[in-house]
Amino acid sequence: MTEIIQKTPYELIGGEAAIQGLVDRFYFFMDTLPEADGIRKMHTASLSGARSKLFKFLSGWLGGPDLFVQEYGHPRLRQRHFPFAIGVAERDQWMLCMIKL
Ligand code: HEM
Repeated sequence: MTEIIQKTPYELIGGEAAIQGLVDRFYFFMDTLPEADGIRKMHTASLSGARSKLFKFLSGWLGGPDLFVQEYGHPRLRQRHFPFAIGVAERDQWMLCMIKL
């Protein structure tokens, strides 16, 4: 008999520690790369709130503990981003920080 083992993306990428590492690296690059200066300026001086929220959001989105929803309710991410002028340049800066090795 074939045993089917179903793992969540959260488990497959290494759980809490891996997501925390990803998020820490993401904001490190946002904070230090000159190319990401445009989106860095949209954020508050301290990135700790954004870091905590992105970690909690990704945890649930990847199939792990739904920390963001438990604390803040439905993410409504589109609505939460309305106050910011996000266009193609800002999207590219965000992705740069996310995929940078
Ligand atoms: C497209 C480029 C994006 C830009 C420029 C951007 C920018 C921002 C900014 C300026 C904030 C406010 C941070 C603060 O409170 O200081 C924010 C919040 C947040 N962003 Fe983004 N974002 C982008 C894409 C994304 C994506 C793709 C995700 C999800 C994978 C995401 C997840 C979040 C979350 C969870 C928050 C916290 C929302 C809250 O205040 O409750 N963002 N973002």
